Amino acid sequence: VTPKCPVDWFDHHSAEHAADPGAAAAQMLQGPPVKWSDRYGGFWIVSRYADVVRVARDDASFSSRQDFPDEGVSFTGVTIPGGSARTIPISLDPPAFFAFRRLLNPVMSPQESRKLAPMIAAYADWCIDRVIESGSADLVADIASPVPAITTLRLLGLPLDAWKIYADAFHNSAASRPGSPELAQADADAARGMDLVMDMVRRRRAEPKDDLISKLARALVDGRPLTDDEIRSVCYLVLGGGVDTTTALIAHSLQYLDEHRDLRPGLLADPGKLHAFGEEMLRVHTPTQALARTATIDVEVGGQLIRAGDRVMLFWAAANRDPEEFDDPETVRIERHTNRHASFGFGIHRCVGSTLARTEFAEVLSRILTRMPDYELVGTVVRYDSVGTINGLHRLPARFTPRTRSGPGGPPPADLTSLEEGKAAS
Ligand code: HEM
Repeated sequence: VTPKCPVDWFDHHSAEHAADPGAAAAQMLQGPPVKWSDRYGGFWIVSRYADVVRVARDDASFSSRQDFPDEGVSFTGVTIPGGSARTIPISLDPPAFFAFRRLLNPVMSPQESRKLAPMIAAYADWCIDRVIESGSADLVADIASPVPAITTLRLLGLPLDAWKIYADAFHNSAASRPGSPELAQADADAARGMDLVMDMVRRRRAEPKDDLISKLARALVDGRPLTDDEIRSVCYLVLGGGVDTTTALIAHSLQYLDEHRDLRPGLLADPGKLHAFGEEMLRVHTPTQALARTATIDVEVGGQLIRAGDRVMLFWAAANRDPEEFDDPETVRIERHTNRHASFGFGIHRCVGSTLARTEFAEVLSRILTRMPDYELVGTVVRYDSVGTINGLHRLPARFTPRTRSGPGGPPPADLTSLEEGKAAS
């Protein structure tokens, strides 16, 4: 048995880690490939690209399950420490997993997601219109946060003017350290938001529409309807996945383009280059930094024996800096020939929202670079207190040359009306 390589310096939820998560990811690639942390009940850390791919693809030996005690092995899901809410399908294993994932795939397919581009551009324009005349904005609170939140509510079929309830709750939940009062408050806020979701589920059972909640309310798994708890768990995950990660991607990209203003015209002129830039921002900033599994059998990874029941961190952010996979990994290179980054995961749980996230990224960046071409960051950039799971930013204060409101340049999508009403009411 290889001796354990303990890493005392590593606490992914600490303030030290939040100050420079990239440095910790790079450091984790030095020395033995699989390391051990005593924190949060103890867990292995897998960092090399090839090992991360292998563990993520071996869903029989490495379980995502949560809250199913079984033969002495306790399953605590895909975060370290384990989360408070069971989410579906991310914390299910096959075969139950497939029955639920099948419900999401058609709604969030690449084709369906790309169709949403004009609508997402209209949401971005709506957000920009609210600040464009003033010449100053918080690029996170005013644009990078609302657009993914509004898009996710639209997908689910929730009232768009409720976006801030979900955006604030899920950002604060991801941003807070385990056991902190901030996390308890954010989880309580998210739970209140989920009550509104369940009200909508009841309404859509009676009067279905063409949205994800209506589909879930009518769907069958193994020939039976979903329970309320299952629908809640799916919606919770779609909201969490949809609201926070994409905001982090857009925010980091806007921060990078503050430091590299010469890149802006080229990205705006060339959608292929903008896409490649997004992939490089996904790699370097890795919005979802790490997730976890539980070993179901004794299994060896990178020369290290992992015992059944052990917790295993998949450090996507470290894999994204592995020089065996990426030339010159610390450098942002938009022209990378291949960029098979780990940021959307691998295997059966690979992100179902990846094309939607990429579409949101492209539309929001395009609208900002078109309408605020000279934006510059001013004041203090505020990072999340913990970036151990999500590498997010709370605030990006900016100024730019004021311009007139423009709107999307065509008839607005009907549901923007409800946003205007929400604004009038606030
Ligand atoms: C930049 C944006 C995003 C990043 C970095 C990201 C990252 C990830 C990762 C790493 C996984 C794999 C989980 C695992 O292996 O345990 C995942 C799964 C998932 N993501 Fe995303 N995600 C993003 C955007 C989205 C969006 C926009 C949505 C929905 C609106 C979404 C919904 C989901 C869901 C439902 C799963 C679970 C899939 C399953 O278990 O089969 N994500 N995401």
